[in-house]
Amino acid sequence: MKILLLGSGGREHALAWKIAQSPRIEKLYIAPGNAGTNAVGENVDIKATDFPALKEFALGHEIDMIVVGPEDPLVQGIFDYFKEDAATRHIAIIGPSAKGAQLEGSKEFAKEFMLRHNIPTARYKSVTADTLEEGLAFLETLTAPYVLKADGLCAGKGVLILPTLEEARKELKEMLGGMFGDASATVVIEEFLSGIECSVFVLTDGEHYKILPVAKDYKRIGEGDKGLNTGGMGSVTPVPFANGEFMEKVRRRIVEPTINGLRTEGILYKGFIFLGLINVQNEPMVIEYNVRMGDPETESVMLRIKSDLVDLFEGVHQADLDTRIMELDPRTAACVMLVSGGYPEAYRKGYPISGFDLVEATDSILFHAGTAVKDGRTVTNGGRVIAVCSYGETKEEALEKSYKAANMLSFEGRYFRRDIGFDL
Ligand code: AMP
Ligand code: GLY
Repeated sequence: MKILLLGSGGREHALAWKIAQSPRIEKLYIAPGNAGTNAVGENVDIKATDFPALKEFALGHEIDMIVVGPEDPLVQGIFDYFKEDAATRHIAIIGPSAKGAQLEGSKEFAKEFMLRHNIPTARYKSVTADTLEEGLAFLETLTAPYVLKADGLCAGKGVLILPTLEEARKELKEMLGGMFGDASATVVIEEFLSGIECSVFVLTDGEHYKILPVAKDYKRIGEGDKGLNTGGMGSVTPVPFANGEFMEKVRRRIVEPTINGLRTEGILYKGFIFLGLINVQNEPMVIEYNVRMGDPETESVMLRIKSDLVDLFEGVHQADLDTRIMELDPRTAACVMLVSGGYPEAYRKGYPISGFDLVEATDSILFHAGTAVKDGRTVTNGGRVIAVCSYGETKEEALEKSYKAANMLSFEGRYFRRDIGFDL
């Protein structure tokens, strides 16, 4: 089988690494990929949202399956683009239709969907500039802190958590006034939920599903979960509190109503569903849906899937996922993200990275996030640079190995959090 994987981050390197291990793979291309993906497949210089160029490439290279890493192509309708065209309809697309991708593309759509299907989530109200007064009145019914979410995609920056009513009122007006452009023309105001979060990943063919290993990610730049939000500083799987009893609630109250809801509403969904959950006194509630895998959760989750991922993807395409086996590795996997100095604010790129040979002698696995090759050397090329991942019999062992390997890699300004997994 010939597969084209879309995206260019650590998530995509981890997916490429796993896909490349499949006995079914004849050729793996990654568009646009990074320095890491090029080592397990072949990078193609096409943007993940350039549908006409992807179509031409797919037809020219007899691609059988396209696996979509990031949300943008999904929200922009890549599934529909390929399925509506007689020339490309036969190509399997791992990712939902544009309508299904609205679960991530529109917070309002996601909230209304959850309400319709009785899926536990925070109480909310959706407002626009015309209904500002109703929004202000709704804020009065809540207690601090206040959660405001831009409806549309904002690259992870569209959620504000405000400590006082006064600030919430002010920010609500600013968001509706265009703080995030069109993405905040509609704002979802939510009740604040207090608890510990986890990421649950589901692979579905639209009818059947498999639940992948549960992970926890660490989004803040500073230790103790302090400071600015980032794309993710590390991840750990499994998550001890997501035990059998908790996951049974997740399955019954969230996963099944989500998949049944999509089906009964006629929404085509063949791909990953990422449930951002919060554990509120042992009751799982949905903070958000994403329509792709998480980053950097994928970097540790892929380590724990023993089965052939391509076989599972074929099950998604052929709608017989129930007949496929997903065997998991019982060990813990942990990943630590090395980032550029200054990230998530301004940082420089182009610093050479050394120490790959030292890591090679360990059993840690590196997934490149923001790297490039310049004059034959691997250099930094993004805020998040490399995810260092390891197995362990315990969380402590997996993290210790990752930290050891992280210290072997050096580049100017290198930073990483030393407390990944501290709250588990
Ligand atoms: P989201 O983009 O919806 O994942 O929101 C970003 C982050 O804001 C989440 O990962 C949570 O940490 C936090 N958050 C979002 N909604 C709520 C809520 N209703 N209560 C508490 N925290 C929230
Ligand atoms: N790690 C969270 C995300 O991928 O959105």
